[in-house]
Amino acid sequence: MTRLVFPEGFVWGAATAAYQIEGGVDARGRSIWDTFAHTPGKIDGGDTGDVAADHYHRYGADIALMRDLGLSAYRFSVAWPRVQPTGRGPANAAGLDFYERIVDELLGQGIAPMLTLYHWDLPQELEDVGGWAERDTAARFAEYAGLVAARLGDRVPGWTTLNEPWCSAFLGYASGVHAPGRTEPAAALRAAHHLMLAHGLGTLALRDALPASAEVSIVLNLAAVSPASPAAEDAARRIDGLANRIFLDPLFGAGYPADVLQDTAALTDWGFVHAGDESIIATPIDLLGVNYYSPTVVDLGEGEVDGPWPGCADIRTVTPAGPTTSMGWPIDARGLGEILARLRDDYPPIPIMITENGAAFDDVVADDAVRDSDRVAYLHQHLAVAHESLRKGVDLRGYFVWSLLDNFEWAYGYAKRFGIVHVDYASQRRLWKDSAYWYRDVIKANGINGMA
Ligand code: FCB
Repeated sequence: MTRLVFPEGFVWGAATAAYQIEGGVDARGRSIWDTFAHTPGKIDGGDTGDVAADHYHRYGADIALMRDLGLSAYRFSVAWPRVQPTGRGPANAAGLDFYERIVDELLGQGIAPMLTLYHWDLPQELEDVGGWAERDTAARFAEYAGLVAARLGDRVPGWTTLNEPWCSAFLGYASGVHAPGRTEPAAALRAAHHLMLAHGLGTLALRDALPASAEVSIVLNLAAVSPASPAAEDAARRIDGLANRIFLDPLFGAGYPADVLQDTAALTDWGFVHAGDESIIATPIDLLGVNYYSPTVVDLGEGEVDGPWPGCADIRTVTPAGPTTSMGWPIDARGLGEILARLRDDYPPIPIMITENGAAFDDVVADDAVRDSDRVAYLHQHLAVAHESLRKGVDLRGYFVWSLLDNFEWAYGYAKRFGIVHVDYASQRRLWKDSAYWYRDVIKANGINGMA
């Protein structure tokens, strides 16, 4: 069996997000996810993040678990309404204290904190005045970024502005399956721009407050898009524009792609992009985070009513034949390789980390164990592709499994389990799945077996 060894210093991590694990809602302001989850019919089973994995109270034990896994880094997010309960004004010291305890505990265990400022929990008061469809929200975000950096900048080495602006804009404001649940495609495009502006302004605010050694990044869920048939090639170009180039091109200084502006011209004239915005968005960053789960195949045909892609009612996504996870997402690691190769070929050089990758399966607890060989196989395949990408010259610095713990999977609630560690929500007991033992061994060996 060949061994695939990763470079020395390769970062092995796990990722979570505040609303998905923390609970502890009484100690913070309300976000759009509180409102959305408490709206009947929005979340499977009527679940909410009120308690979640109770990480707010159990972070110490959870960080001990990270140490036992051997993680070199932990990617987590700060709940904006803990820091600014209404999204504006001075920092709530108690909210920052909570994250300071987490950061200090991580550092004490030799785990590098990688802090995401926005993983979707916009303070409700900001949505009440228009949310991401309004330009002012970007300025509010920069202010918030500055407050967190002022407190934690001396000890957090890795900073991410936004997690997956595609989801915030297009699931939040076009399809409405995520908070705030709006189905307004034109507002979704405005939201996409204001999120990118927030990223740029936030990066500038972070640079002001952070030591030069701190690394600033954004995390994108890039899509490996392919047409189901030759007739769908232009559809694939349009989806690629809205999934990838709408974020990557301005980020790397090329401005918004002309074809995307043209494709969406019936919805908006893009007058919300002011002179100078694109150069703010292009403020240099140190690292690009890529989240990858499955490839995207598109065909011509009637799309969903209120689909996530503004102006694409004539395009539908199809699930190719083959294995899927319990989310119904196709399992195909080649898409990850395609995305990484594309970044290498089409954009300026930048260090990359895979900031999320993982899978939900219908786990069964039996004899105090979870034999999740399907998840192990999934992780193994994707790590093999990550290794191959390294050999092909991709500047890949690290890998974060999604997720450390089972958690509140947004619109799916607790029905979908992505953790390598099982959470029994009634008792809050943590139980290592086989995938956790497997990942621990991968980290220890800094490598995996070659694929058979
Ligand atoms: C990503 C999200 C993350 C998690 C995974 C499954 O889009 O960033 O919070 O829900 O999907």
